[in-house]
Amino acid sequence: MSDNIIETAIERGLFDDAPWALFIDIDRLQHRFALLNDAFPADTLHAVAVKANPLVSLLRQLVDQGAGLEAASFGEIEVARLAGADDHRIVYDSPAKTVEELQRALHAGIYINADNLSELQRIDGLNPPEDARVGIRINPVIGAGDIEATSVATKASKFGVSLTRNRRALLEAFRRYDWLRGLHVHTGSQGLELDALVEGVKRCIDFADDIDADPAAAPVETIDIGGGLPVAYHPHDETPGVDQYATALRDEIPHLFSGPRNLITEFGRWLFAPCGLAVSRVEYVKESPAGPIATIHFGADLLLRTAYRPDDWYHRVTIHDGDGRRRSGDETQLTIAGPLCFSGDLVARRRPLPRPQPGDFAAVHDTGGYTFSMWSRYCSRAFPRVFGVRKTAAEALTFQPLHPGE
Ligand SMILES: Cc1ncc(COP(=O)(O)O)c(C=O)c1O
Repeated sequence: MSDNIIETAIERGLFDDAPWALFIDIDRLQHRFALLNDAFPADTLHAVAVKANPLVSLLRQLVDQGAGLEAASFGEIEVARLAGADDHRIVYDSPAKTVEELQRALHAGIYINADNLSELQRIDGLNPPEDARVGIRINPVIGAGDIEATSVATKASKFGVSLTRNRRALLEAFRRYDWLRGLHVHTGSQGLELDALVEGVKRCIDFADDIDADPAAAPVETIDIGGGLPVAYHPHDETPGVDQYATALRDEIPHLFSGPRNLITEFGRWLFAPCGLAVSRVEYVKESPAGPIATIHFGADLLLRTAYRPDDWYHRVTIHDGDGRRRSGDETQLTIAGPLCFSGDLVARRRPLPRPQPGDFAAVHDTGGYTFSMWSRYCSRAFPRVFGVRKTAAEALTFQPLHPGE
């Protein structure tokens, strides 16, 4: 529906006042959440990762569909509350929680995943209430995957407690703290094969089984398997569906789905990324020895990772004429540059694409997750306009402005 979105948005004058916008296909988002729900046991808490897309009204749609929310900071807890999430359905994962934040989360009944053994000591010092719900993040140490900067399961990762180096200390913690009842694993984000994701969860469950076999330790009541399911940014990428992931988990670790433990997931990218389309008017086109350069109105401010690590964070781009019709035919080696004051501010580098004219539009696909949540204020450019797009029963598109915090 992306071509249709662009043509209709132009026709409705949405680019008359400002040259660019981000569109989120809400029907698609809800469909993907329904797929996630269907793939896992019905009582799974799907705590959607707020960091992927912190727009309150979008999160509210998911909360209304039964989602919980995963917060990586106290600010995200506030976003989750605004989106209507009950405190009992919020999972708090920051690696830098202060004593005061821990105190507030404990007493609100928020589920806390501690990041390290010192944090457990801190929590103990706060005399957790009887009904406190606390887990500890383990690092399953399965290796880096394809993208170093988002890998979280190497020996040197900054997240969680290494299962290889600290297994004994972790077991000791389950003996010492009777309020510690959960294990958390998030093996990586994009760049990981299905086998690696499953292996990360398997190591976590094997450890949970060891804890349960220890008569001196409190049993593991909750397993949080994090997120990390990759999406196909490149047309050649073949990525697993959520049903394949769930089937692989069920095959490899049958008691993950059938045992008495509570199950939590924290999906972000897989839900949101394919639902977003960023569209900018092409302001100028100039020549260079390396081919034409089209200047548009977003760059590293929206696509931080793409600008700095273009090979890891590829996005598909299409070129459209002034009425939104997709251009095809003769291709050139096109570079698409953002508006910011540094030369690495590039969205695409020497891509085989049709040559645009000023007044055309460039559309960057799969931009629904980890884009404006990483928005950079560099050059003081206006915060993105975001529109939620839906199809009515009569197949007409509706565009609803979505503002942060509402
Ligand atoms: C702890 C944790 N949970 C969940 C997520 C969401 O991961 P993804 O968006 O890859 O599904 C992340 C992402 O960084 C994370 O760090």
